[in-house]
Amino acid sequence: MRRLFVAGNWKMNLLGASAKQLAEGGAAAVPADESAIDALVCPPYPYLRAVGGAVDGSGVQLGAQDVYHEPEGAFTGEVSADMLVDVGCGWVILGHSERRHVIGETDELINKKVAAALKAGLKVMLCVGELLSDREANQTEAVVDAQLAGSLEGVSDADMAQVAVAYEPVWAIGTGVTASKEQAESAHAHVRNWLAGRYNSEVAEATRILYGGSVKPDNAAELMSQPNIDGVLVGGASLKTDLFVPIIEAARQVATS
Ligand code: PGA
Repeated sequence: MRRLFVAGNWKMNLLGASAKQLAEGGAAAVPADESAIDALVCPPYPYLRAVGGAVDGSGVQLGAQDVYHEPEGAFTGEVSADMLVDVGCGWVILGHSERRHVIGETDELINKKVAAALKAGLKVMLCVGELLSDREANQTEAVVDAQLAGSLEGVSDADMAQVAVAYEPVWAIGTGVTASKEQAESAHAHVRNWLAGRYNSEVAEATRILYGGSVKPDNAAELMSQPNIDGVLVGGASLKTDLFVPIIEAARQVATS
């Protein structure tokens, strides 16, 4: 049984005071002994410590939005996996479409980051997803397959217990356009099938596949009710307590119904 997972990706938003306030709002909604769902917030690097302090003692976990693959050294501006562990992160988002398409990260680089994160003991939220042009050219599955294969190169069956996949169609991110539940479910079923082929059915059944792309309180429950959608990775709506908490509540309701 896969536990539903609600993750907030704050991207490059908020400042210290608003980040702390948002974290406190999430922490108040998820008790330490939360039994139904998992929750995660991923603030910008400078606020990891403060947000970690605000969610400490609650059921909300802390993650980062990226990591560098080298363990230490002359890499100005970068942050290592051990540093993220040191400031209390349990998770790191990797391969987000903004890293791929704005910053220019390749599957090869993402794969190095995945390996470094797992080696340091971080859990990985690996994002994949097609551009609108890929979908229109009927290339969604081919693009997702290539991203999965490239990013997970050398990642073992055992390592997969520390990996969740987020399917995030790029055309749905920050656009207000959500994939329909049928489009999302079909892509998720495809990802699970890919995992069964690359790994085995146990890994495929155990791996959580989250949907991301304009998730809001009014579409979260419908998405998470699909058999292969195991949670949501939320951008814009994770920046407001009165939007993020209802998404957490929607997950709890789906999990317990
Ligand atoms: P969005 O972002 O919810 O603002 O569409 C999702 C994401 O990029 O993870």
